Amino acid sequence: METRGSQGRRPRRAAATPTGILGAEHDLLLDVVRALDRSLDDSARIDSGVWEDAVAFLRSFGAQHHAKENIVLIAALERQGIPASDQTLRALLEEHEEEGQLLDSMARLLRDAAPGDGDTGSAFRQVARRYCAHLVGHIDREAQFLFPMAETELSPEDERDVLHRFLLYTHAANGEDRYDELLAIADRVRRAK
Ligand SMILES: [Fe+2]
Ligand SMILES: [Fe+2]
Repeated sequence: METRGSQGRRPRRAAATPTGILGAEHDLLLDVVRALDRSLDDSARIDSGVWEDAVAFLRSFGAQHHAKENIVLIAALERQGIPASDQTLRALLEEHEEEGQLLDSMARLLRDAAPGDGDTGSAFRQVARRYCAHLVGHIDREAQFLFPMAETELSPEDERDVLHRFLLYTHAANGEDRYDELLAIADRVRRAK
């Protein structure tokens, strides 16, 4: 069993507002993605153990993060009269789908790679770089468009309601221990070289 000392640190900047929580999760995702991107620059070898951990983290942590955005925050904005068909919101939702597809490709390439298979290695590297760039751009667009929209449109009461619903997704399904387990995986990925 993991001790508290072996768990990853909780996201920084965890202010008790919806954009504070999402922003702190963005910081964690960016830390992981930048570490992964650097590892592609620094090493000719793909460390499949680190990347399998990374894909597992990005998929699970990403799923609960996306649920907070797709199901909770965007629904709250809809209640303020901003339709989910709004061009900005629709583009961000499509980007969540694209992220999932890139992660699926990465997982498939990792699974199918034979040791020393240069072609799979370069295909994986290409998809991994696309994923990293996509996520960095997506997070930037959310900070630029989604967060100001939420901060302008939601009343303090709406924000409290959104925060309450966020907790359900943080702790949903597998409980709080699973969230900590994901943070521990993120820590391992960031430290791996
Ligand atoms: Fe997002
Ligand atoms: Fe996000």
